[in-house]
Amino acid sequence: MQFEPVFGNVEQNLKKAEGLINELNAEVIVLPELFNTGYLFTSLDEVGKISEEIPDGKTTEFLCRLASRNQCCIVGGVAERDHGRFFNSAVVVSPEGYMGTYRKIHLFSEEKLWFQPGDEEPEIYDLGCCRMGVMICFDWFFPETMRILSLKGADLICHCANLVLPFCQDGMKIRCLENHVYAVTANRTGQDDRNGKTLQFTGRSQITGPRADVLYSAGPVGNEVGVAELDISLARDKHLNPFNHLYRDRRVECYRR
Ligand code: ACM
Repeated sequence: MQFEPVFGNVEQNLKKAEGLINELNAEVIVLPELFNTGYLFTSLDEVGKISEEIPDGKTTEFLCRLASRNQCCIVGGVAERDHGRFFNSAVVVSPEGYMGTYRKIHLFSEEKLWFQPGDEEPEIYDLGCCRMGVMICFDWFFPETMRILSLKGADLICHCANLVLPFCQDGMKIRCLENHVYAVTANRTGQDDRNGKTLQFTGRSQITGPRADVLYSAGPVGNEVGVAELDISLARDKHLNPFNHLYRDRRVECYRR
């Protein structure tokens, strides 16, 4: 799901997300990074005021209600507050309630002023329909992120994004190919204008398949929902041909660093 949040207006952003989610009939729904707050923070004080505890904050509670009502899993980006520290996080919820949180490992640019990087290996969530791992935006730039999720058994990567560079959509084809996984990159659109600074976000959200195929590509502006049906057996087959296997052909003894 791609949309344009209004910076600082959590109520309005949740309402907008709810309207779009109610249009959808899907087992797994992915929302952009920081979908409830907007992206371009200008002070720690601001992050402190708008960030939320997980799972007790209102955004996680809201997502749990929607997941229960619509009988789906939802992954969405939230600014997390935890004992005076802040994380650029994504929550995972199912019809049964809160499942877990992923904290962005690779912070981009000035995010380093506001957030602590996540320091745990990303988890796999068994959603019943598939095994799913989460990453957030700039994490895609580090092939290790998707590799570890894939090695741990992910069929699908839910990728919450606020992209400002033009490389990810092409890059995700290779990330998906080299791991034989599906990925849903849910990007935002529009711009944040804060204290004389502007950041433009690039849309073009994408559902990418395990053979470098693009199953859905959104436009560069506006709200948009895209749906694809995924054949999970393609993600579970790690053979390229009878001789080559994506994991068994790794030569970790030749590249230990
Ligand atoms: C980004 O990681 N939001 C560019």
